[in-house]
Order: sequence, then structure tokens, then C-alpha cells
Amino acid sequence: MGMKATPASSAAAEDVSTVFVVVAAVFAAVGGLLFGYDTGVISGALIFIKQDFGLSIFRQELVVSVVLVGATTGALTGGRLSDRLGRRVTLIGTSVIFVAGAVVCALAPSATVLVVGRLIVGLGIGLASTTVPVYISEVSPAKARGWQVSLFQLAITIGILAAYVVDYTFAERTGGWRWMLGLAVVPGLILGLGMLFLPETPRWLAERGRTDVAARVLQRIRGTNQVQAEMQEIQTILQQSEERGRWSDLLSQSARPALVIGIGLAIFQQITGINTVIYYAPTIIQSAGIPSASGAILATAGIGLVNVLMTVVAMWLIDRTGRRPLLLTGIAGMIFTLGALGVVFTQPRHDSTIAWVAVITIMLYIASFAISLGPIFWLLISEIYPLKIRGLAEGMAAGSNWGSNFLVSLTFLTLVQALGPSKTFWLYGVLAVASWLFSYYFVPETKGRTLEEIEQSFRMRRRGRGPQGQATR
Ligand code: BGC
Repeated sequence: MGMKATPASSAAAEDVSTVFVVVAAVFAAVGGLLFGYDTGVISGALIFIKQDFGLSIFRQELVVSVVLVGATTGALTGGRLSDRLGRRVTLIGTSVIFVAGAVVCALAPSATVLVVGRLIVGLGIGLASTTVPVYISEVSPAKARGWQVSLFQLAITIGILAAYVVDYTFAERTGGWRWMLGLAVVPGLILGLGMLFLPETPRWLAERGRTDVAARVLQRIRGTNQVQAEMQEIQTILQQSEERGRWSDLLSQSARPALVIGIGLAIFQQITGINTVIYYAPTIIQSAGIPSASGAILATAGIGLVNVLMTVVAMWLIDRTGRRPLLLTGIAGMIFTLGALGVVFTQPRHDSTIAWVAVITIMLYIASFAISLGPIFWLLISEIYPLKIRGLAEGMAAGSNWGSNFLVSLTFLTLVQALGPSKTFWLYGVLAVASWLFSYYFVPETKGRTLEEIEQSFRMRRRGRGPQGQATR
């Protein structure tokens, strides 16, 4: 009844659907908020935890880095779960894990229990990083997928900034660290409650053979009954698929190039040094010549703000200019600023002028990351894999990202000691050059194309029939 859409009613319907998808994307992106918050909060909390429990250096390192071990494990296993159980159910489970982890951390009577709590939180972060981008990518319309999946990265940056603010707020209170770690319960609950009311993705449902439900969900999120073409496209790609959802399918001929791109970008996102700045900014700034802790913290908050704002700029551009121009421009900026940072640290005198040059250079570096490797890595790994193994492959990429994060965080201070700060930043700069070349030669443009068109282009490329330029550059 009344199914025929007039132009005006279909425009209104499209608006409704846009709102629906944005709401779904925002709730899922809360997983990113927890990712940013839980990785960022520990730097401020550690000072107090150390005092309360009398932690040795090793135990301090454990409290910080066990999250990354948990996240690597959560990412590698989470992909399989989201393919088996569905994106939605996995996200509901993720929220339970986040809440449990936060409660264990906040109430921890001993350092050992705290380490266990941080491990649980890490599992949640890993699961979120595998499942959130895929969930958003599979519900978004092609033309808006870039900015909607990038809500995940925006949430990460807001989470990091929120962690700085919370750390600052609770610093003076007795047992303030318990609040710092415990507050994560709130977004944890929001994620779970939101997902209870949101639908499973139509693509996962279709892959499981639940075509009718998939079509109904698609009608609901697109705000129109005219979804036959999109459903047809999903079903056609599923019929053509050679993958069966097994681990060995990751190495199938059509999946392999995408796997290499995802894992490559995962590693490059980390080995170009982003988290040396995110985790150690106050230390870097102090050693550049701002002696006061409060000055260093303020500068760090400024860096966090630049990260948020430039991610918004990236979201505005990503569906307009496309992924490749942003990626290549941003990485070029990272190369330049890492080089400059190395030069700053060659200066024999570290006074406040040098320190401010360092702070501004770091801000430009963060801005370059925020328009490129930050959002575009998470976006691409939600776009380029075949539907049958999307979760699994995304998990491999996310897991590689966490593993590389762990290695860089663990080696940064040692590198600075062995090589000095200048050579350390130049080393990251050289790796950024490699990352630019990798992106230039391997990363495809996915702007405006449906997930099925992207999958098809990888398949055609393998068979040597497709327009090369489409799947590659
Ligand atoms: C990275 C994180 C990083 C954050 C900074 C994310 O894309 O995966 O490791 O801390 O960006 O904004």
C-alpha cells in the first residue's frame, strides 16, 4: 500500500534512512571511544597506581602493555566470532567484556587483579577494533561509507582526549585512578544497550542465507522498499565467492592481495611512530625543553585536540577526494614532520623556543596522521575483503596492528636511549617513506563503490580481466 515513492517522499525516506544509519554508526563507534579511552587513560592513572601498589618497573610495564596483548588476542579471535555469530551479537558480547573489565580494574584489590582486569579490557578493545568498522561499513550506503566508518576513528581520538581530561580531573583525589579506569563502564553500557536495539547487518544475514530478514533490514535502513538491486548485488557476489569462511581462504588467490594490503597498512600505521606521540607526548615535550609537568600536559591536550579536529576534516573530505589522495598527502606530511622533529632534537640547546617548535611539529605530524593512516586504515580494512571472510581477514589486519603497536611501544624508549631522539624519529621517517610507496603502489581507491563492486574488482584483477586501474589505483 502506498509503495510507489514520489520524488519528494523518496527524498524524505532517504533522509530517515540516513538518520537511522548514522544513529547505528554512532552507537557502534562507541566501541572506538572505549578503544581510545582505555589506551589513553593509563598514562595518567599509572602514577597513582604505582604509589598505591608499590609497583616495580616491570609491573608498571605489565599494567600498561597487557592491554595490547589482550587487544591483539581479541582482534585475532574476534573476526572469526563476528563471521560466525554476527556483527551485532559480537558487539553485545564486547560491551559485556568492556563493562566487566572496567569493574575488575576499578575494584582491584591487588596489582595482579588489576593486570587481569586490563587484560579483559584489552580483549574488549581488540574485539571492538575488529567488529565496529565492519558493522558500520556493512550498513552504510556506498556514497557515505567513508565518513561513517571514520566515525570509529573520530571516537578513538575523542576517547584519547577524554582520557586526558578525566586523568587531569581525578588526579588530586584519593583513589582517583579507580574512577579513571572505572568510568569506562558508562560507554561500555551505551554500546551494549544501543546494539540491543539495532539490527544485524543485511550483508551478514544474506551470507547466512537469511535473505528475507536481510531484505527487511535493508528496507528499514535505506528507508525504502526499493532494495532489490542492492540485495541482488549481494547475492550475486555470494554466489561467485570461492571462499567458504575458513582460515585457509585467507590465502585464496582473490583474497591474498587484499590481505597483503590490510596487513601492510596495519603495520605501517604503527611503525611510523604514532603511539610514541600518543603514549609518550609529555616525556617527548619535556625533553625538548618544557620543564613543567603542567605545561607538558597542556601541550599534550592540544595535540589530542588537533587529532580530533583533523579527523573531522578527514571525514569531510574522504568521500569527496577519495581515500588515495588523502592517504598519500597525509603520509607525505608525516615524512616531512618526522624529518623536522629529528632536526629539532639535533639542537644542542633545549630552550622554550625549541620546545614550542617541537610541539608545533608534533601537532603537524598528528594532523597528517589524522587525515591519512588514522581513519583510512580502519576504513579500508572494512571495505576490501570478500564478504565470506570479511570478519576473519579484518581480524588479521587489526591483530597485526595491535601486535605492531605492542612492539613499537615496547622498543621506543630503548631506541631513544640507543640512537638518541633524532635518529629514532628519522628511522620512523624512513619507514613512513616505505609506507608512502606501499600505499602508492598497492592501495586501491574505493570511494563511492559498493562493497560488492570492490570485491568484484579484486576477483577480476586476479583473472586479469578487469580494468587494472579500478582495483589497484
Ligand atoms: C591507531 C591507534 C592510535 C590512534 C591515534 C588509531 O587509528 O590505531 O593506535 O593510538 O589512531 O589517534
